Amino acid sequence: MSQLVITRNIGETAVAKLTHARLGFSHNKPDVSWTQQMLIANAKNAEALVCLLSDKMSAEVMDALPNLKLIANVAVGYDNIDVQAATERGIIVTNTPDVLTETTADLAFALLLAIARRIPESDSYMRAEKYTRFELFPDMLGMDVCGKTLGIVGMGRIGTAVARRGALGFSMPILYCGRSQNEAAAAEFGATFVSFNELLAKSDFVSVNVALTPETTHLFDINTFRKMKQTACLINTARGPVVKEADLVTALKTGLLRGAALDVFEFEPKMVAGLADIHDKLVVTPHIGSATIDTRHKMADIAVNNVLAYFAGERPLTMVNPEVFDNQ
Ligand code: DGY
Repeated sequence: MSQLVITRNIGETAVAKLTHARLGFSHNKPDVSWTQQMLIANAKNAEALVCLLSDKMSAEVMDALPNLKLIANVAVGYDNIDVQAATERGIIVTNTPDVLTETTADLAFALLLAIARRIPESDSYMRAEKYTRFELFPDMLGMDVCGKTLGIVGMGRIGTAVARRGALGFSMPILYCGRSQNEAAAAEFGATFVSFNELLAKSDFVSVNVALTPETTHLFDINTFRKMKQTACLINTARGPVVKEADLVTALKTGLLRGAALDVFEFEPKMVAGLADIHDKLVVTPHIGSATIDTRHKMADIAVNNVLAYFAGERPLTMVNPEVFDNQ
């Protein structure tokens, strides 16, 4: 059994780097989805694991992998990993920040434009040959983006990159809320720190950019939607469970919200019942925020570099719980 197990396809370049380093590893090359039992069976003696956000690394899984010392997640988010349990067991957890910031912000903005200007609907309309004559007030009337207020829930790296696109590209006033103020965003493009409720009341577009934590789970439920403008659109490229999807269905169906554009889902990869039936107020994509060729290779490369650093006895670069390394 290998000292390193790679749970899913991470691309040939990253795998080649490991081969070149002469590190023994086993790789789920066929990229089949492993159940928890399969993961445990395949990684029984592993010292290091390269995994994706679809691999749930609970305390139970960690206890079943007694040699595990490193979990290299190929994602910036790590809500799939019980980091506290890892820390308690002396397991280093790493993620892949920074390289996906602009890529994910691009998708958030693409979704914002798509829902505002009804692009997927318009595409289907054309393909169905419904466009028979030009009209001043067509079925596909949308919303302006330029100059509208953009609310950023979570002005971290990705939130800031989304805000910058709105402020500098589309002259949007930026409101934001979160745990702390972002002085750099205020200085660069005049972002204003407000309460969550003020952001909800004043924003035309609300972009969700928080990490998934117990505090942010279901941050957007029916009560939240009631506080938003009825003409507002919600954009979520962060994590699905931040939005209570059943409540979103209700909000969209009853006109509490103008629209929603989602790249992530509460019960991913599934959508909650009723969501897919909404066409005119909803745009959905399959968790592709960071899914460009360059970015996905960069993410895999960071994970591999962390593995190589670990086996060389060096400090992995992007640790989530550096105290484990520091206390060794
Ligand atoms: C992440 O990295 O957390 C994204 O959601 C997937 O790329």
